[in-house]
Amino acid sequence: MPDTEQTKIRERLLAETLQGEVPTHVAIIMDGNGRWAEARGLPRWEGHREGAKAVREAVIACLELGVRHLTLYAFSNENWLRPSSEISALMDLLVEYANSEESELRERGVRVNVFGDLERLSPEAREAVKRLGAATGSGSVLSLNLALSYGSRSEIARAARRLVAAALAGRLKPEEVDAERFEQELYTAGSPDPDLLVRTSGEQRLSNFLLWQVAYAELLVTPVLWPDFDRAHFFEAILDYQRRERRYGRVEV
Ligand code: IPE
Ligand code: IPE
Ligand code: MG
Repeated sequence: MPDTEQTKIRERLLAETLQGEVPTHVAIIMDGNGRWAEARGLPRWEGHREGAKAVREAVIACLELGVRHLTLYAFSNENWLRPSSEISALMDLLVEYANSEESELRERGVRVNVFGDLERLSPEAREAVKRLGAATGSGSVLSLNLALSYGSRSEIARAARRLVAAALAGRLKPEEVDAERFEQELYTAGSPDPDLLVRTSGEQRLSNFLLWQVAYAELLVTPVLWPDFDRAHFFEAILDYQRRERRYGRVEV
């Protein structure tokens, strides 16, 4: 399809989306990079490189729509079990992404927060994401949260550990522990829960992502592979979300 045609479609979808309620927080399980590459006879890392471009598209879509929080699953605890060549390609891409996007993210008011077991990242990747976080710290238009070396079960266990430590130190009573207090010990403390969780590439599972936080998120699985997930797909996902009725267990009276 010619570029001008694509631009027209995208602008129509954007205008349509802006007529409805835009979610505050969108979370995405960015899946399918490997299959995208394999389908083209390319090495898997080429899919990850192309996936980084899709991250750009998602960020721009959020800025155009006024989404305030975007949380991306970039690397899971379980992904450490992949071949070391793929892991090091991913670490390199992370450094590349952090360096190449920093100034634009800062200029557009995007604040980058990185969470997960960051100690396991390569020193270069850890340094690069820390720098990116510091350089964009004053951004107030969009929070871009990158879950890296992340697993929801370890996040929940970590929260429990922190509460027990506070209790043993005499700073917390057991009866003070409720859902609100528990949440304060999660990596995502202070941000609202995701309204919409998108998973690309057709897999219908959570793969240890934000198990606590997605309690009432609307779920959307799309067959589109992550490197192909462009702004138009993002707007379509939001339009789908806008057709849902969120009931939170209640009935209309
Ligand atoms: C998602 O794509 C990126 C990461 C998990 C880092 P995959 O690499 O899982 O791609 P598929 O699922 O093998 O196609
Ligand atoms: C989930 O994708 C993790 C990320 C997108 C970073 P995976 O490809 O690792 O998940 P599974 O193996 O299909 O469950
Ligand atoms: Mg996958």
